[in-house]
Amino acid sequence: MSTLDQSYVDNGSFKPDLFKGKVAFVTGGAGTICRVQVEALVLLGANAVILGRNVEKTEKAAAEIQQLRKGSKVLGLGGVDVRDVHSLKKAVDTTVSVLGRIDFVIAGAAGNFLSDFNHLSSNAFKSVVSIDLLGSFNTAKATFEAVRKSKGAYLFVSATLHYYGVPMQAHVGAAKAGVDALSNALAVELGPIGIRSNCIAPGIIGGTEGFDRLASGEANLHERIPLQRFGATKDIADATVYLFSPAASYVSGTIEVVDGAAWHLGAFG
Ligand code: HXC
Repeated sequence: MSTLDQSYVDNGSFKPDLFKGKVAFVTGGAGTICRVQVEALVLLGANAVILGRNVEKTEKAAAEIQQLRKGSKVLGLGGVDVRDVHSLKKAVDTTVSVLGRIDFVIAGAAGNFLSDFNHLSSNAFKSVVSIDLLGSFNTAKATFEAVRKSKGAYLFVSATLHYYGVPMQAHVGAAKAGVDALSNALAVELGPIGIRSNCIAPGIIGGTEGFDRLASGEANLHERIPLQRFGATKDIADATVYLFSPAASYVSGTIEVVDGAAWHLGAFG
């Protein structure tokens, strides 16, 4: 079921046709956070392609998101693993042939589990780095020609774990640090050809798989967050809309932290 609805447009902060004619390409787009990012883009007029490993989950999410706005097109391409650049390239070809272009890329596919260093095998570390970091590179690489044509924008989904040490998260922290570095390099290299690249770093977002795995066991954790609440998926969607909008046309090479100021207090650690 979708999280957002028409009230996001009617009562929200953005113009109803902000993204009319634009196409978003989103890995992990059937997952909780990225799905709501897509919902916001579609409600504001974009068409979208969401990609994931699970065929049924991806197609179902796409069909549901498409219902949010009359006339919108949302494709769900399952069986795509971001560790395989060739499966991404095929998905890009399908996107361009069906929807004509790619303006916005969200590299959102991620893998995570809690493991202390002692029990983290080399293959487990490699699996997470391959999904989060190599997968982000592959996504940028596969979409590059289309993004160059549209003078589009990249958005990488990062985290705040690597700003300090978070126990049980050596693998994800190392991968996300690499994601930040990748985005910064793309911002600098691709800026001269009109492409922007940014990261979004969600804090503790309620109702997500990450929350269930990482934060649900702690009582009154929200009181340790300066803004006194967990984030919502809509908070990430709002920041995403801003970063893809013309209001952010001079914003590139940044990491937009959306965490209620939590990391400054080490509230996650
Ligand atoms: C220790 C583990 C483990 C665990 C897997 N492994 N789970 N080690 N503790 N809980 C090890 C395995 O033993 C294996 O190592 C290696 O990791 C690869 O496991 P596979 O199952 O073969 O890998 P694969 O099928 O590719 O799955 C990748 C995965 C999996 C990352 C391990 O969890 C996955 O697909 N996750 C996708 C969904 C997901 O995680 N969503 C959460 C997103 S939330 P050995 O040595 O035995 O071969 C999120 C929030 C992050 O990302 C930000 C936090 C703020």
